[in-house]
Amino acid sequence: MAAKGILVGLFLIACWAVVTRSTLHASCKLTWTFTVPCDTVHDLIIKQMEKWNSSSLCPTGTEKCGYTIDSATNTATEIKGTHTTPVHHYVDDLSMGFENDTKICTVKGYSTSEVIYAIFDKGTNYCNLHNLVSGSGLTNTTRYGFKEVTHDSVCTQYSSADCSKY
Ligand SMILES: *[C@@H]1O[C@H](CO)[C@@H](O)[C@H](O)[C@H]1NC(C)=O
Ligand SMILES: *[C@@H]1O[C@H](CO)[C@@H](O)[C@H](O)[C@H]1NC(C)=O
Ligand SMILES: *[C@@H]1O[C@H](CO)[C@@H](O)[C@H](O)[C@H]1NC(C)=O
Repeated sequence: MAAKGILVGLFLIACWAVVTRSTLHASCKLTWTFTVPCDTVHDLIIKQMEKWNSSSLCPTGTEKCGYTIDSATNTATEIKGTHTTPVHHYVDDLSMGFENDTKICTVKGYSTSEVIYAIFDKGTNYCNLHNLVSGSGLTNTTRYGFKEVTHDSVCTQYSSADCSKY
């Protein structure tokens, strides 16, 4: 009886995922714009990922560590890497694409959980990306003209994310 209930529950979750066109992975897609050239932004993000590489450096109760950079794909137009959550060691794949426009640098960021059951991620995929711009100081609007655009429909639990924790 209980097993039947679980099956019905899983079925409903699968239907919900299909209906909302999300997959069974939590993920986040966002766009940042800056009023500085992309090489400045790229440089600061790489430095932040290097600074937050070691998983042992994570301040207790936060996820501001455990980043790796895929050096083979690290070019002026792209950064790929991973973030591993410190407690459960869940791996999230990250990618950021850089594009210079006239006086504007546009960055398209994407983070997705490798674990298939991570439908609700408490905003972790959002924070994986956002922590890099806040940690490096790129969120300073006066200095970098920072803007961020995303939405709950393309970024799991974006509006309820607590990046001081994740
Ligand atoms: C970061 O740490 C991982 C091990 O957790 C390592 O494999 C990787 O090479 C390190 N450095 C960078 C730049 O990703
Ligand atoms: C953007 O332009 C700068 C020079 O102004 C260049 O160094 C950088 O590689 C360019 N980045 C991209 C993503 O085109
Ligand atoms: C943001 O940048 C401006 C200009 O560089 C600087 O004066 C200001 O102190 C910065 N704000 C923060 C919170 O770092």
